[in-house]
Amino acid sequence: MAQVILENIYKSFPLRQGERSKDAESEENVSPAASSSASNSVLRRINLTVEDGEFMVLVGPSGCGKSTLLRSIAGLETLTGGNIWVGDRLVNDLPPKDRDIAMVFQNYALYPHLSVYDNLAFGLRRSSGRKKEEGRRKKEEGRGKREEGRKKGEEESIGDSKNLGDADSINYRIQSWGEDFLVGVTRNLPKGLRYVSAREKAVGDRVLKVAQLLQIESLLHRLPKQLSGGQKQRVALGRAMARNPEVFLMDEPLSNLDAKLRAETRAQIVQLQRQLGTTTIYVTHDQTEAMTMGDRIAVMNAGQLQQVAAPLELYRNPANLFVAEFIGSPPMNFLQVQFTAPLLISHPQFRFTLPDVWARSLQQYDGRSLILGIRPEHLSIHPPATKNLSVQVDVVEALGHETYLWVSLTDAPAIRMQVRVGPDRTVRVGEEIWLAISPEKIHLFDPDTELAICPRTI
Ligand SMILES: Nc1ncnc2c1ncn2[C@@H]1O[C@H](COP(=O)(O)OP(=O)(O)OP(=O)(O)O)[C@@H](O)[C@H]1O
Ligand SMILES: [Mg+2]
Repeated sequence: MAQVILENIYKSFPLRQGERSKDAESEENVSPAASSSASNSVLRRINLTVEDGEFMVLVGPSGCGKSTLLRSIAGLETLTGGNIWVGDRLVNDLPPKDRDIAMVFQNYALYPHLSVYDNLAFGLRRSSGRKKEEGRRKKEEGRGKREEGRKKGEEESIGDSKNLGDADSINYRIQSWGEDFLVGVTRNLPKGLRYVSAREKAVGDRVLKVAQLLQIESLLHRLPKQLSGGQKQRVALGRAMARNPEVFLMDEPLSNLDAKLRAETRAQIVQLQRQLGTTTIYVTHDQTEAMTMGDRIAVMNAGQLQQVAAPLELYRNPANLFVAEFIGSPPMNFLQVQFTAPLLISHPQFRFTLPDVWARSLQQYDGRSLILGIRPEHLSIHPPATKNLSVQVDVVEALGHETYLWVSLTDAPAIRMQVRVGPDRTVRVGEEIWLAISPEKIHLFDPDTELAICPRTI
């Protein structure tokens, strides 16, 4: 297993004819290399450390560079600048096959002529062969040290020459050749009479274990064309998981599954990742996946990281307006308000006093406008009062366990907000209601920098 370190990652693609560079708008944010007039920067100064064994979720709007970042880590894109470390290896110039990384692609690709079993076993056979060779070479060069801590569990039974003395190493090779010979000569015999090598048996055990976890055991003999989209996606996931690499990269691996299977597979991936302890970077658009799967979430926008933090930390303390809007479903509501020191927030439709903890950080904003953020779950229906907000209900979305309301401000119908209410509350479309904003739950943002203003206790 390994830590992944991304240092100042830049990636730009050459512009096609007639295409305008987006870099012109924010030239200071990009490297000289990436800001050439004939290129578009897709990744801009990405610095991120994914700890050994960590599950990092990468989220961001479509086109922000998530897949490009994963493909760069896997070695499928050449960086314009920066370094990528996997463990203690600088992998910038290593081809994908030597990075010991398994990637599940957004558009999964299975080998069409191989059965599900062989698709799952394919990478495993190749990587076990390669790891065996690598282990042997390192042993011979007297520097197999780093490998030793890495290959545990079933990987050991697949075959590795670590810890073998010279005599053992020769015995090992003879045994390997012998096994390959027996496999070759018995290949065309009926199944029960075929020789199954220890390595192939270990491959089989691992394939079966992954297939059971992903509930695809009954599909092992089918070809990809005989599978549904969701089944293919689980095979693609299994193929990466079976290999037990140093790092998993997963690019929206559950997007083709139905809601139930998606929830089940989500739990299975998390369980398997915890068992294997493999460092994972997982791209998703799904809020539930982002909040529930990751140890930390990295939020990206326009090729830049916005904030990296534990899910609840992001939800409670978003660093800027973008993160505040992106994390949470339905998203946070925003209103422009006026601030008067020491603690008064006013809006044409309401006014209230903030808790004391805000006094110090808001001193410099006296008489200025601020952006107030409030989540749909922190608004509640209350009787009329000057501190409450009068709205009209436009749409009622009853989900059973809770209800979402789309409302518009009575005095400014163009401003819409979303409210989350309990399932027992009956609200009619067209009804006028009053909403209370919990002052303890509000977020405030500087309208110029869009950065969050944090309450300070000292
Ligand atoms: N080979 C390429 N040549 C030119 N531009 C590219 C290339 N690959 C990606 N891009 C551009 O880079 C940007 C980032 O693309 P990328 O696929 O990384 O986005 P993404 O965050 O994965 O989006 P999505 O969520 O839709 O999958 C997009 O504007 C895309 O058009
Ligand atoms: Mg993508």
